Amino acid sequence: MEPILKVKNLTMDFGGLRALDSLDLDVVEGEIAALIGPNGAGKTTFFNCITGLHSPTKGDMIIAPPGKKQERLNGLKPNHVTERGLARTFQNIRLFQNMTVLENVMIGRHCRMSAGIAGAIFRGRSTRREEKEVVRDSYIILEKIGLTEFINELAMNLPYGAQRRLEIARAMATEPFILLLDEPAAGMNPQETKELDDLILWIRDNEKISILLIEHDMKLVMSLSDRIFVVDYGKKIAQGTPAEIQNNPAVIKAYLGEEIDA
Ligand SMILES: Nc1ncnc2c1ncn2[C@@H]1O[C@H](COP(=O)(O)OP(=O)(O)O)[C@@H](O)[C@H]1O
Ligand SMILES: [Mg+2]
Repeated sequence: MEPILKVKNLTMDFGGLRALDSLDLDVVEGEIAALIGPNGAGKTTFFNCITGLHSPTKGDMIIAPPGKKQERLNGLKPNHVTERGLARTFQNIRLFQNMTVLENVMIGRHCRMSAGIAGAIFRGRSTRREEKEVVRDSYIILEKIGLTEFINELAMNLPYGAQRRLEIARAMATEPFILLLDEPAAGMNPQETKELDDLILWIRDNEKISILLIEHDMKLVMSLSDRIFVVDYGKKIAQGTPAEIQNNPAVIKAYLGEEIDA
């Protein structure tokens, strides 16, 4: 399988702090890959670099979406990264809390509309038709993610696990070829985590979207991942299958003092 995301030599300095140090990582089509490591290892910084929030100090970030030509991500703004087919969720939930569940997903969907802002203001016939499509498509996504019961509820009124799912629904609405999830199970109870496990598998298998997952819940990581990358102090210290990673002495050492609940 060909890589759809290739990151080479990625380095990110914040002043004197090297948050990422010559990191190589690739994701192949159809896989669930995980990026793990202790707190402060640089995992979120990695997502922030590939999604255009930070401009890395060094390194190459290249995508090769299925059936499309290869392209560099370096220098792209976040909205352009989204248009290229990379979607993400955030470690701390970022929803429009005062908007409904449906509206939150519609906002994700708008990046696939052709009319743009001017069209939305002048509302010609084609814009109205597009708006109807946005509502219909958003509803279909909510149905798939299992959130239709909350469709007209304000995001802030949703149970915690449902808010996390809504973030995933909004990311899916942008029609990504790869979904980047930053600690999606954080704060979830065991039942919610089990549902998340099923949802991530379903997204990969049925929606054919590849996944790169940052996660602290080792049980979830070990059960879901095809391959795991381990970082510590910004450097990759191991890479392999769940079985290889579980028995890797460097990984066990990096996690000393942290709870591994696998
Ligand atoms: N915007 C920033 N400015 C300065 N330092 C940052 C910034 N973002 C992250 N860091 C630092 O980079 C390191 C890696 O952080 P982060 O990527 O959030 O780690 P992780 O997600 O693995 O817990 C930490 O030391 C953190 O304090
Ligand atoms: Mg983080």
